[in-house]
Amino acid sequence: MGGAIRAPTPPGSILGAVDRIVVRPAGPLEGTVAIGGAKNSVLKLLAATCLAPGRYVLRNVPRITDVDCMADLLRSMGMVVEWSAPGELTVSHDGELVPEAPYELVERMRASIVVLGPLLARYGEARVAMPGGDDFGHRPIDMHVKALEELGASFTSAHGYVEARVANLKGTRLLLEFPSVGATENALMAAVLAEGETVIDNAAREPEIQDLAAFLNRMGASVVGAGSSTITVTGTDELGAVEHEVIPDRVEAATFLAAVGVAGGEITLQGARPDHMDMLVQKLGQMGMRISPDSEGLWAMAPGRLRSTDVSTLPYPGLATDYKPLLVSMLTTSNGVGIVTENLFHGRFRYIAELERMGADIRVEGHHAVVRGVEHLSGAPVRCHDIRAGAALVVAALKADSETSIADAHHIDRGYERFAEKLRGLGADVTRS
Ligand code: EPU
Repeated sequence: MGGAIRAPTPPGSILGAVDRIVVRPAGPLEGTVAIGGAKNSVLKLLAATCLAPGRYVLRNVPRITDVDCMADLLRSMGMVVEWSAPGELTVSHDGELVPEAPYELVERMRASIVVLGPLLARYGEARVAMPGGDDFGHRPIDMHVKALEELGASFTSAHGYVEARVANLKGTRLLLEFPSVGATENALMAAVLAEGETVIDNAAREPEIQDLAAFLNRMGASVVGAGSSTITVTGTDELGAVEHEVIPDRVEAATFLAAVGVAGGEITLQGARPDHMDMLVQKLGQMGMRISPDSEGLWAMAPGRLRSTDVSTLPYPGLATDYKPLLVSMLTTSNGVGIVTENLFHGRFRYIAELERMGADIRVEGHHAVVRGVEHLSGAPVRCHDIRAGAALVVAALKADSETSIADAHHIDRGYERFAEKLRGLGADVTRS
């Protein structure tokens, strides 16, 4: 029954014994944690392999369920996808793919929509299930469709699928209404095989877009300006398979920064890219954390109770919406009041009811949340609804005075590899069942 409150699981009970993360009080964190490859980069790199046949090797790939899901989607089209070594994924195909993304897979992961652009560009047609709503609320794909239409594609929709067709994509100037990450990626992956020049204005500037552009350029594309608001693509029909190392995951890094902020202590994030996280590092500095780049990646220390601050999410280089649940968890036990404004996904506040069950003092008004810091949270059974909210509950639980049991932990597995194990390596008492 949706929304029903569950009693804590009695000791020894098999009820709810699986798919949980249990966090017990354990004090400050200490040590080094390795940051894995970026989920939101590798998913798009995998989609880009539709653009040309051959054998691709991707390194620094996190072993998370969203990667498994994208691998299943590629297999369903006719590719061979295999883990060839730890963190190394090999993708091969002969160019004879079925250009279709079925509902069963798109429903599992809405990022599947990024196969639309590359399939259309390579095969002149694509049939992709429409992603439904999710815990962030309604998530339209109108900007993806408009950009591809402007490149020459025509769309029909029936039976829950969008079908796109084009004889020849033709380069043009695209002006995105909002710097959407997914729409920029779909337009970019279509434009690399289009005739002539495409300019994408008001493009998303996220580091994952830069990684995708680097991958496409290695394949033989000509993409200039990724990471800025204007991306210029000169079309080619000569793309080939390549090897590539995925950039580190800035949201995973942010999660461990939030963890040390809440639990206290001193940690090193091995492999993190501080230059991808400037705004977050600045914000955490305002809250009282000390963070600096070092030879391994990023060093972070939380000297005591943090100060509250206001938080407002924006497209990159602004504070990412994916950091927001983590920052809310930090604010729940900080000193003072913080106002949190969500500007990207207005429905992205559902986890707050779970934090309230742990004793947090939060009031939500529309797309704002007012978080009044309390000294301690109290351990409670809670439930996660999406990847980042789930991780944020685990982070908050590090400061609880007793055991917190977080149900539906499979959401966390979508984006975090060995999350509980990595936290244990820093001294936290976190177990996964
Ligand atoms: N939007 C539209 N129409 C569109 C596309 C987007 O109105 O056609 C709106 C969205 O509803 C939202 C805003 O534009 O309000 C931004 O959405 P965007 O397209 O930038 O997001 P996305 O590509 O769907 C990616 C990440 C998200 C991350 C956002 C914002 C992936 C797989 N997902 O989503 O990451 O929150 O960018 O940075 O790259 C996560 O990792 O947990 C996650 C949700």
